Amino acid sequence: MKIKNIILSIISIFSFCLSSQAQKIEKVHPGIWKVTYGQPEKHLPTDFKEPASESLSGLPDRETAPFDLRSIQFKEVPKGIVAELKIGKSEKIYGFGLQVNSLEQRGMRREIRSNSWTVGNVGFGHAPMPFYISSEGYGVLVNTARYVTFYMGSQNKLAKSAGLKKELPPEQPGTTLAELYNSSYTPSEEVEIVVEGTKGMEIYVFDGPSMMEVIQRYNLFSGGGYIPPLWGLGLKYRAKSTFNDKEVLKFAQYFREKHIPCDMFGLEPGWHSAAYSCSYAWNPKNFPEPDRVIDSMHGMNYKLNLWEHAYVHPTSPIFEQILPYSGDYAVWKGAVPDFITPQAKEIFGSYHKTNFLEKGISSFKLDECDAADYKQAEAEWSFPDIASFPSGIDGVQYRQLLGLLYQKMMVNLYHDANLRTLLEVRASHLFAAPYSAILYSDMYEHVDYIRMILNAGFSGISWSPEVRQTGSEDDLIRRLQSSLMSSHMVVDCWFLNNPPWFHYDRNKNNKNEVLPNYLELEQTVKKLIELRMKLIPYLYTAFARYHFEGVPPFRSLVLDYPEDREVWKLATQYMMGDQLMCAPFIDGVSEREVYFPKGVWYDFNTKKKYEGGQKYTIRMTLDEIPVFVKDGTILPLAEPVEYITPETVLNVTCQVYGTPEKPARLYEDDGKTFDFEKGDYNWIELSWNKNKGKVVRNGKNKKQLYKIVGWTSCTPRQESIESLIKDRLDRSLQQYELMAASLMDQPDRLPGFDGGFGPVND
Ligand code: GAL
Repeated sequence: MKIKNIILSIISIFSFCLSSQAQKIEKVHPGIWKVTYGQPEKHLPTDFKEPASESLSGLPDRETAPFDLRSIQFKEVPKGIVAELKIGKSEKIYGFGLQVNSLEQRGMRREIRSNSWTVGNVGFGHAPMPFYISSEGYGVLVNTARYVTFYMGSQNKLAKSAGLKKELPPEQPGTTLAELYNSSYTPSEEVEIVVEGTKGMEIYVFDGPSMMEVIQRYNLFSGGGYIPPLWGLGLKYRAKSTFNDKEVLKFAQYFREKHIPCDMFGLEPGWHSAAYSCSYAWNPKNFPEPDRVIDSMHGMNYKLNLWEHAYVHPTSPIFEQILPYSGDYAVWKGAVPDFITPQAKEIFGSYHKTNFLEKGISSFKLDECDAADYKQAEAEWSFPDIASFPSGIDGVQYRQLLGLLYQKMMVNLYHDANLRTLLEVRASHLFAAPYSAILYSDMYEHVDYIRMILNAGFSGISWSPEVRQTGSEDDLIRRLQSSLMSSHMVVDCWFLNNPPWFHYDRNKNNKNEVLPNYLELEQTVKKLIELRMKLIPYLYTAFARYHFEGVPPFRSLVLDYPEDREVWKLATQYMMGDQLMCAPFIDGVSEREVYFPKGVWYDFNTKKKYEGGQKYTIRMTLDEIPVFVKDGTILPLAEPVEYITPETVLNVTCQVYGTPEKPARLYEDDGKTFDFEKGDYNWIELSWNKNKGKVVRNGKNKKQLYKIVGWTSCTPRQESIESLIKDRLDRSLQQYELMAASLMDQPDRLPGFDGGFGPVND
């Protein structure tokens, strides 16, 4: 045994000497190291990053790296550069950007390629990222805009040196199917990272010590999370692509007449004179007098958002100018501007500034910038990998970075005007946390949408589970709830005549049929949107933590409860801010299993109390929202308003759950400018002592966004004996079912098992 260890160490020292020739290790910030190998690449994601926020220094600095960085092995292969790292037997891996199909990434191959649809579960998506986080409390980021493949313990290297890794023959030769087909999975302890087409690699390693601190460090290194404008937390409604001015105004009036809160109205492709590619000029048929539409919408206190993408139509006023600063391939016959060149940025930016920003357009939906659809071999709409651009960037790198560069340029336009915006964007990449832009998709699986909320939290991005058509009324309400419980509540009717609560079925909706009970449904929807408006102070505060401390406002429970093995794979529940846990009801079900981590929790609707550390079956009516509140919470809830204006002051009531041991903090600023970057904000301390609430405001912001008007103590509902007995019975039944299910998977553990029966997987 000893000799084996000595030989292994000699081999590893030898291979380190071989590999470390060109390997450089630098500490670049507290808790952040850079490992460089070979020839540096051009157009790295860090080139487009603003300087790291000072807040980075607020995180613990352990001086030494989280693992021996010299143990990273590099080698050159014809495909590019390979880095090899080790992972421990029980290490779990999360991240890789906006992954769609899985939460835990150990044992997976992850291919980092921007694409508008997933292709199997190989890792493609709107915002895949070369960045993962380990449960051991460190993060690994590959600083490249090239295609990267990560083998996350998914491959096993053959041990070539005889005797070293030789496996003993099995004591009992295999007889079962699983044994014969060798399907028992042994996770490999190796990570291989391949960057295609380079001669060098840069790896950043982020220390924790906790996973939460890794992601905080990453977000702060990116420049800190964005704070949305206050209106950005309200409802967004996107009207049908073909709508003209009258139809838009009709629906804008509808919300106001029905007093259904709505802050932003989005126009889809039909506002352009040419949409695919884009002219960025108003369609004279649909919108003959755009200024009047803008005025009327402002008169109704709406913010207006315009859909577009970056491919410039030959009839666009900027086409001729931007052509020299565009790539050599067209997309939908339009030019693809190179947003790395100052000229393309200036032409595109100043046109948008004069024609839209200065006319009162508050935001944009930046579509199609994922720039690929590998599924469509016959009609690939985007530029190819072999495209070249004036800055020298190639088709691969530009495909990966286009969403990031596009959102950055547009956010900066608003930043220069000292006005916050909230964009929608369909692609992103590393270091996007400071940009107020929300990812969305045409994919539409509700369960994936929820998983994407969790995955977004590992990579400094925001994701919107938007609502369109649905399969049933229940599905509609549950999807609306999930949208409410996310960073961006949006109803996207780009192919629907009417709001989906008129009719959830796409065809019937477009025939203007309405559900018999649509007015009732409308009331349920209205109550839900009002709840979103109530949550604004709480959500705004969560975003302030994102900005100042890098804490993701929406995140997997594994970041808050890393020791709790029940949450390691839990992809259907997540934290919304620090105090609320969401457990969405998917596909219109009316009950589901909810796991409560340690501590005491309360049902937000009924105030019923749950002891943590166990699962419960929870039933909820459509009027109830699957949100659970941590014991000790002071939850600031606003009186709902129909929309946010610069004059809005929110009347806040604090709900007190249990006995808070420390004060809650509430963030306040002017809600619209970037003056908070100069220190113009307040933190309000809310404390509860001897059944009395106390408010202390600190900071230099003069305008008060909130008026604290009341306090309520939410004592748990008194349980009736019957409901307690029923609950207990339900739980025993559940435990029995669970035990039975696990024994079915492992029949040999059944008492009295003689090997003669049991399910066979074939
Ligand atoms: C899609 C986009 C949709 C909608 C549509 C309009 O690509 O994802 O949300 O905007 O374009 O054509």
